[in-house]
Amino acid sequence: MQACFIPAFLLGGLSLSPTNIFAPASTPAQSIVDLSVFVLEITAAVFVVVFSLLAYAVMKFRRRKTTDGREPAQVYGSSQLELAWTIVPILIVVVLFLAAARVIASIQNAPKPDNAIEVTVIGHQFWWEYRYPSLKVVTANELHIPVSDPAHPTPTFLTLLSADTDHSFWVPRLAGKTDLIPNHPNSMWVDPHETGLFLGQCAEYCGTQHAMMLLRVYVDSREDFDRWIREQSQPAHINSTASEGQRIFEKTACVNCHTIAGTAAKGTYGPDLTHLMSRQTIASGAAKNTVRTLSAWIYNPDSMKPGCKMPSMGLSTQQSAAVAEYLATLR
Ligand code: CUA
Repeated sequence: MQACFIPAFLLGGLSLSPTNIFAPASTPAQSIVDLSVFVLEITAAVFVVVFSLLAYAVMKFRRRKTTDGREPAQVYGSSQLELAWTIVPILIVVVLFLAAARVIASIQNAPKPDNAIEVTVIGHQFWWEYRYPSLKVVTANELHIPVSDPAHPTPTFLTLLSADTDHSFWVPRLAGKTDLIPNHPNSMWVDPHETGLFLGQCAEYCGTQHAMMLLRVYVDSREDFDRWIREQSQPAHINSTASEGQRIFEKTACVNCHTIAGTAAKGTYGPDLTHLMSRQTIASGAAKNTVRTLSAWIYNPDSMKPGCKMPSMGLSTQQSAAVAEYLATLR
């Protein structure tokens, strides 16, 4: 099926959006676009036929000066007409149903190859946790996966879990939405055909900061991905110049929620910070990851993300800045 129905200039304009649903870069997203275009073509044809008949009837039988005001002849019953307007719509609906069922089955029943990357995605209010069980890597908010060459596919299979309420994983250029539901593991897969950053958004209302639960998927070349995995598997890089910030961090309740591998911080309620500075954003994409934003975030998380679950620890601005300096050493 071709995307001929949508004018090229419209596609060009839409492709400016990083979440453009008509610019698929992965097989599941491509299947969904093909199906959508097919459905749009059929419904557009129905629209044209119905409105042409309507316009014809309105014009041909409109009130004229010569009208004598008598009611026209009333015609009852036409088996042919009634069969036609019953059978044709049923056929159309059956075709649409079969086309949709075929796409759903082909995506859901896709076999998992042995070389597939497996990632467990855990939705939290209001951030994403990513665990690579076989690669012993844990990270947050920025998912890294390898590009998948259609000739030698290396898809990524995601197991979707939730720590609290319903969330939904939606990166439009890679795949359709799949919900993360407590006590009900879901799954999905993507096989990105190009490298780059793909954006998305939690697509199920999950609380005050639902809108700031942004998704960032980095599709890396195989070499970049392997290097990223190697770096993420290392314990924290501890730099003694920031020991004041580390001291404050470790004697504050920060350690109850965050893990920094190789230190006393072993909490799992919040994002793993072992390689915090390898990420471009903080607070699930709410702000750029810099010492300045980190410092403001630690001082008062609510100022950036009102209603988020990270409390202000009552640190002074100087203490917050010292902790930010310490976190900035975690590469
Ligand atoms: Cu998580 Cu909406």
